[in-house]
Amino acid sequence: MLTKTLRTLPSKENVSECECRYPQTRSGMRAFLETFFARHFFQVQDSLLQTDMLSALVASIRRGRLNIADIGSGPAVTSLAVLDMLSALHNLNKLHPISVRIILNDTSPVCLQIGLQMLKLFIRHSSQTFHDIQIHTLNTAFPSNLYQWKRTTNRFGTFDLFFLSYILIPLKEELKYAEIQEGIEIFRQYCASHATGLILQDKFRESLIRTVGRNLRALTEKATLQQIVYDKNNSNDRQIYNYYRTIIS
Ligand SMILES: C[S@@+](CC[C@H](N)C(=O)[O-])C[C@H]1O[C@@H](n2cnc3c(N)ncnc32)[C@H](O)[C@@H]1O
Repeated sequence: MLTKTLRTLPSKENVSECECRYPQTRSGMRAFLETFFARHFFQVQDSLLQTDMLSALVASIRRGRLNIADIGSGPAVTSLAVLDMLSALHNLNKLHPISVRIILNDTSPVCLQIGLQMLKLFIRHSSQTFHDIQIHTLNTAFPSNLYQWKRTTNRFGTFDLFFLSYILIPLKEELKYAEIQEGIEIFRQYCASHATGLILQDKFRESLIRTVGRNLRALTEKATLQQIVYDKNNSNDRQIYNYYRTIIS
């Protein structure tokens, strides 16, 4: 899925650091996918295995319905990580197909476009896991789009899982801590009682994520992701990333 998508994107020459982190163009998207996709994807999957997140996921599987809010979705990295996990659980346990709603929220059109493209590619290859799957996009900035989230809830029901993966920095550039807290607290009113949220941020922003977590009365912890990368010469390269996660339950 990732390889197929990369084939459709132009080279990443002359892409700035900012464009690589927050892609607005197709070449920026290539740089983002090559640099961050695998890292963020597996950080989300590792976090999904934490007790509160796993309970919310299992509760949704039992009910046969899962609603996901992917805030600052980029190219749907988090949503793809959840679907992949669902698919793996389904293959292991022969579960009934589940109905899934995903709302991708990002202000960058190229992120929403590539996110939709990758989700559709993924779903095509895991059709037995999903009974009915709907993906919608919101292109307005969080949290000033809360009324749209409310309307979405009225239409599709409350959310079971919500994610703010690597979006705290742009939020903090625009907002005060109290405004971020208020935005997330209002958003939680659109979530089911068992719902769980995940905030992810890299190791360089410890105080930012810890402050947001404390304000939300949620635990923030340091986590480690270890990846073994098989390069073209077939030698293994071990990479270790420390990051922070806040789980809101
Ligand atoms: C670093 S990317 C992270 C993408 C993805 N969540 C991940 O973990 O790989 C941050 C994304 O947040 C989006 N973004 C920034 N401010 C936003 C806002 N106020 N509301 C919604 N999306 C926003 C950017 O366009 C960008 O695609």
